[in-house]
Amino acid sequence: MPQLLYLETVGCQMNVLDSEMVVASLRRHGYELVEDPSAADTILFNTCSVRQHAEEKVYSALGKLRRLKQKHPEKIIGVLGCMAQKDQQLIFERAPYVDLIVGPGQLSQTADLIERVRQGDGRQAALSLGRRDGSTESIRRSHETFDPLRDPEMRPTPFQAYLRIQIGCDKFCTYCVVPMTRGPEQGRPPEEILAEARLLADQGCKEITLLGQTVNSYRYRDGERTTTLADLLYKIHDIDGLMRLKFVTNYPKDMSRELLQAVRDLPKCSTYLHVPLQSGSNQVLQRMKRGYTVEDYREMMQRIRDWLPGAAVSSDFIVGFSGETDEDFEGTVQMVRECRFKNSFIFKYSVRSGTKAAERLPDDVPEEVKRRRNHQLLALQDAISEEDNQRMLGQTVEVLVEGPSKAAEKSGADGPILQLTGRTMCDRIVVFDGSLRLVGELLPVRVADCTAHTLIGQVVTGHAGPELHALDVLASSPVRV
Ligand code: SAH
Ligand code: SF4
Ligand code: F3S
Repeated sequence: MPQLLYLETVGCQMNVLDSEMVVASLRRHGYELVEDPSAADTILFNTCSVRQHAEEKVYSALGKLRRLKQKHPEKIIGVLGCMAQKDQQLIFERAPYVDLIVGPGQLSQTADLIERVRQGDGRQAALSLGRRDGSTESIRRSHETFDPLRDPEMRPTPFQAYLRIQIGCDKFCTYCVVPMTRGPEQGRPPEEILAEARLLADQGCKEITLLGQTVNSYRYRDGERTTTLADLLYKIHDIDGLMRLKFVTNYPKDMSRELLQAVRDLPKCSTYLHVPLQSGSNQVLQRMKRGYTVEDYREMMQRIRDWLPGAAVSSDFIVGFSGETDEDFEGTVQMVRECRFKNSFIFKYSVRSGTKAAERLPDDVPEEVKRRRNHQLLALQDAISEEDNQRMLGQTVEVLVEGPSKAAEKSGADGPILQLTGRTMCDRIVVFDGSLRLVGELLPVRVADCTAHTLIGQVVTGHAGPELHALDVLASSPVRV
């Protein structure tokens, strides 16, 4: 009898990738995935600590399992990922029926740890060292991940994959917990990354997204030789079968000319750049210890516009950070107007224990003000996104078809033609009608309508097959030859 496994994932792309690895490894140990936690023998949560809300979601899900565990003490409950690393024993205190906690650097041990619990060895915990708990080398090693395991069935789609090129973060923005949960910044060796990219292409993968907390800060030193993200892009670009290459998340200070030039020169590279600004006020940026000014960011934007005209840039913002005044917030509003981001992720500041801001800066913007600023900024960004999408009406874009749209999934539609969803080269979401046969294809779609977040179009028939193209709009003519 296979062991039945339920795994729920919250957090960033790193966690999505980690969950893929954990499931691949557990499958090798005879586990089978199920959708219903109450049907599972082992229930795992891969967790995020970046905001309190993300943690509350998991604690509340754990709370709901209390009864189940009382009735079925043989079921195993585990907390993996960033929250395990941050809260450690506190998880056992808040939910005493949890059997194992596993940090992001120890996920390869998950199968063994579950086995130990099952054999009656009691609660298990495998965590990385804290940032002051050992030699630099031992701390680094304790955060290493186990990336080479690959199971194409576990990815959201078999033709798209994440590939981690960098572990951890050393920027220490004052609000952020990631340098604690993911440890020191480490670039993975280029040979490993390339081998993995080749493997992914062999498995039929058309799009690879390189992952790092500050992916463009990637550096790997081997003696005299230093490999940068631009170097990696040139190498990965040569791999046959791959059609699209993306990378997230970028750090504004490290958006070098060399990198922009690589993106310009390599047709498989997406001209979509996610470069979080966080705030449009120099005082706030300084308190966040982001390491750049509004003027620096403007300069970077100009550099992007010069090298990559038509590139889509997106951002993250935190509103209501310690000491943020109306004037500071107005600076953020101005920058959103000026930069015309493709989209922005906007968050209310959430104090994270263990960070510099939690120790030294009061959380003094009232919740009500945070909420108002959040709504105001979202409304402005949505208006900009919609205006920019309107400009694409009548144009033809190239779409990598991902599968049925959310609407089609919700309505349970499974006819010969249903609404499909996909993304353009610049990461714009497009929905259109088509058959499931088209999933995984690169297709031209003419944009007929739009909302702030979605383009709505029709497949252009009679096209000549995919052609590499770095920008979104293909040509004024609907049919490419
Ligand atoms: N490494 C990425 C982001 C990682 S976290 C980068 O540096 O850009 C993703 C986003 O969460 C951040 O960009 C930030 O906007 C937000 N965030 C991080 N810590 C937060 C906190 N304490 N409160 C609210 N939002 C936070
Ligand atoms: Fe957090 Fe800053 Fe590192 Fe991003 S760069 S992960 S916000 S510390
Ligand atoms: Fe969350 Fe950890 Fe990612 S804190 S945002 S899952 S690195």
